[in-house]
Amino acid sequence: MKNCSIKDLLLSTKTISKVTINGWVRTFRANRFIALNDGSSISSVQCVVDFENFDESILKKINTGTSLEITGDLVESQGSGQKFEIIVSNLKVLGECDSEEFPIQPKKHSFEFLRENAHLRTRTNTFSAIMRLRSSLSFAVHNYFNSNGFYYVHTPIITSSDAEGAGEQFRVTTLDPKSPPLNENSEVDFTKDFFGKETSLTVSGQLEAETYAMSLGKVYTFGPTFRAENSNTSRHLSEFWMIEPEVAFMDLNGNMDLAESFLKYLLKYIIQNNIEDLQFLEQRLINEDKTKPQNLRNEMTLIDKINFVINNDFMRVSYTEAFEILKNCKPNKKKKFKYLIENWGADLQSEHERYLVEKHFKCPVIIYDYPAKIKAFYMKLNEDNKTVKAMDILFPGIGEIVGGSQREERLDILNKKMNDIGVNPEDLWWYTDLRKFGTAQHSGFGLGFERLIMFATGMSNIRDVIPFPRTPQNAEF
Ligand code: 4AD
Repeated sequence: MKNCSIKDLLLSTKTISKVTINGWVRTFRANRFIALNDGSSISSVQCVVDFENFDESILKKINTGTSLEITGDLVESQGSGQKFEIIVSNLKVLGECDSEEFPIQPKKHSFEFLRENAHLRTRTNTFSAIMRLRSSLSFAVHNYFNSNGFYYVHTPIITSSDAEGAGEQFRVTTLDPKSPPLNENSEVDFTKDFFGKETSLTVSGQLEAETYAMSLGKVYTFGPTFRAENSNTSRHLSEFWMIEPEVAFMDLNGNMDLAESFLKYLLKYIIQNNIEDLQFLEQRLINEDKTKPQNLRNEMTLIDKINFVINNDFMRVSYTEAFEILKNCKPNKKKKFKYLIENWGADLQSEHERYLVEKHFKCPVIIYDYPAKIKAFYMKLNEDNKTVKAMDILFPGIGEIVGGSQREERLDILNKKMNDIGVNPEDLWWYTDLRKFGTAQHSGFGLGFERLIMFATGMSNIRDVIPFPRTPQNAEF
């Protein structure tokens, strides 16, 4: 068998003569045992070399990181720890690896160190497991929507609108920053820019997705989004991937049902398809917990936590109910929160979200009907004229993982909301057109893909679940 993946090889139920595999050396012990990994799964295959049959100069080239082509027989292993091993008959060094220089040694490295070596960190078991899970979850996203009648829309990456109205956009321009053309008011003349107007990288594909929902019915986008917020936290990236379904004729309750069913499907998918990687990451967390004081240890193992989310209803509470719980809770009364909850309308900070999810309800929580003032202009105003049909989903250990809403489909109210926050409806004429021509209630949400992967892998820093993280002051690789 030629060029067989190590994953397929280890799934074999019988011995095989003469197989050829490629991979990178994880370890080389006693001048005899090579653990070879090709990235196809968490498992390496043990390759046994009889050093008497090989030139010493070749064996000297085998270090952690060396790439090899190995041919040999797959036989039942003599040792414990693996069912099969390969007795090597032919060995070709494809690429040498200087053991002095290679940053990835067969020992524990800190995540900070591995971030500085992001181009090589997937040579470790932890990062290869995370990135296989990431790939699997992407596939599951498309699978879910495809089998539920949704169409995939590629919304633009360069845009002239600020979907969230938060002004956190990266400018896209070809103007010379040193001497941009100026208009008669001495302001930069963007009519001379590449697109003839100010443009930036998108913060969300939602507005364009809405146009497609209002013709194709059920759609979703799944792409990179960019936010120039200066939040150097373990949950924020400047470039992250978002999944945004948008559905015509659906109300807020339908939106919450869709989000809950979607999240459960994704998590079930990896339990069914990626259990080895999950078990590896679970063990990593168990080992890490042993070094922590009892009160900081995880209450549930990774797989139990995932199963808990799959098997339990999410708690649904209105903002007003959540506000009352927070106002009257111990940490608020004892002034333990950094931001005290006093007046209705206050935005919820991550300390409040974590209290609700981890201490009060102890399960995923959906908060809906938020004060209009703290939410984006496109959300549908409730009859109380104070709250909007928004919903956020909060997950244990992560905080907000989903943000969504029923959209304002009434033209007059939408125009007023836009004017109130300083968005000129004329700049978004195509968006308001949807409300003129066959308007209908519709809803959607955005799932932060990396936040989902954090939950699924138990990683505590968002920089460790995306191949090459972009954060303030950091765009290496
Ligand atoms: O709540 P957000 O800002 O919602 C929107 O962008 C809507 N347009 C979505 C929609 O209704 N179609 O963002 C949605 C999710 C958040 O809940 C969070 O999981 C993630 O995107 N997110 C981030 N993830 C990583 N880094 C950041 N800087 C993020 N900002 C938001």
